[in-house]
Amino acid sequence: MTIKKATATAHPNIALIKYWGNIDHELRLPSNGSISMNLGCLETRTTVMFKLEAKSDNLVLNGKAADLDAQKRITVFMNRVRELAGITDHAHIVSENNFPAGVGIASSSSAYAALSLAATKAAGLSLSERELSRLARTGSGSACRSIPEGFTEWITGDTHNKSYAESIAPPDHWNLKDCIAIVSQDHKEIGSTQGHEIAETSPLQASRIASAPERLDICRQSLLERDFKSFAEVVELDCNMMHAVMMTSNPTLLYWEAATLSIIKAVQSWRMDGLQVCYTIDAGPNVHVLCPNDIRAEVAEKLSGIPGVQKVITAGSGGRAQII
Ligand code: DP6
Repeated sequence: MTIKKATATAHPNIALIKYWGNIDHELRLPSNGSISMNLGCLETRTTVMFKLEAKSDNLVLNGKAADLDAQKRITVFMNRVRELAGITDHAHIVSENNFPAGVGIASSSSAYAALSLAATKAAGLSLSERELSRLARTGSGSACRSIPEGFTEWITGDTHNKSYAESIAPPDHWNLKDCIAIVSQDHKEIGSTQGHEIAETSPLQASRIASAPERLDICRQSLLERDFKSFAEVVELDCNMMHAVMMTSNPTLLYWEAATLSIIKAVQSWRMDGLQVCYTIDAGPNVHVLCPNDIRAEVAEKLSGIPGVQKVITAGSGGRAQII
């Protein structure tokens, strides 16, 4: 019996400039570029074992057999890996997150980044960072940004080869913290994949896409210069624009809960009072509040005091996906 095995880790990321909508859904070629920060202390660890005798791919997620949809999505992805490596074996895949399931932290970014690295290594391939990022993108768009280290940018690109992420600054470039205020642990009814598919039904999507390059420039520059004021403004603007598209799509996507809005208003007033904080929200109700490291405890404590906040998880900027 031949067993080819590898284990890899990757961090989830929080988008600072959002990916929402594709020009090619199958290849996950995005309608606009995006920028994100890997979340250091949060991690997915994935082991891939190719087995000659296995009849299909089999995924165990956080100790339980994954549901049928997750298994199907993994098989489509593993077919791509098999094609690249020129092999036919199926794989047993074991994936664990060190953050609790159902807290609304999108784990598809770290999941497909870790899987891309472990699966290609186990299949005998040694891909460059760029090649890995492209492959991870086909599993989950945002996963391409969890391959390189620190703060990363996903270049749009209109072909498979031209669309990948690269690091724009290492993790220690700026000691920012993401204080994640958890307001709901419910599983969302419409996930990102379907959301990307209906983005164009919003009359606002075209103008969001047209103005994205300008926000990308401002975000990249403010990050490189550690200019919190301009960073905060562009991160919140971009988040609001994505949620405006979601709310005006058909069907309507309204991910916010009452507590989401309470946090938005609180963060805005704290900033008016001179605190360096800003918010961003992915496809869910939980709010990511970014701030410099020295005020993280104060910010986490203030967030914990807002009615509806169940808990606050704090993460700093993290490194690249790695084989362990
Ligand atoms: C709102 O990468 O989760 O978090 O490619 O279908 O897996 P799929 O979508 P996904 O979309 C992420 C959407 C977002 C914004 C972002 O991360 O840029």
